[in-house]
Amino acid sequence: MPSYSFQLNGKTVNVDAPANLPALWAIRDKLGVTGPKYGCGINVCKACTSHLNGAAVQLCNTATSDLDGQTVTTIEGLADTVPGDLHPVQEAWIENDVAQCGYCQPGQIMSAAAMLATNPNPTDADIDAMINVCRCGSYFRIREAIKVAAAKMR
Ligand code: FES
Ligand code: FES
Repeated sequence: MPSYSFQLNGKTVNVDAPANLPALWAIRDKLGVTGPKYGCGINVCKACTSHLNGAAVQLCNTATSDLDGQTVTTIEGLADTVPGDLHPVQEAWIENDVAQCGYCQPGQIMSAAAMLATNPNPTDADIDAMINVCRCGSYFRIREAIKVAAAKMR
């Protein structure tokens, strides 16, 4: 079985896996990092969203072989990408009491952080286009939190 090496939340990791194993399973099941969630497995819900070299990526739709030599950040490592204790998006999420059941929230936060890194002043349309599926319907608070996070990051 091939072996792949990559940076995961600031540490070098190695994983033996079939090349086409969804990266979500390599990271959750083989490496024990469970922040990225499984919702649909078909690149629709975005619950598995994490960062590959800083850009949002859906791990259910990424091959493990595509991680080789790359840098992966999950919700567990997001705070370590900035000074301070938490990423501004995480702070805004807490201040706006966004989470309900919480299942979709790692993916929502990772999507928002990636968007704000390239779009510091998102419009409502930009935010609506980004928001992932939330079965609890936390969409209103997500919108508000993204605006608060954007202001923090400008
Ligand atoms: S699990 Fe739904 S997009 Fe990855
Ligand atoms: S907070 Fe429950 S699925 Fe979004």
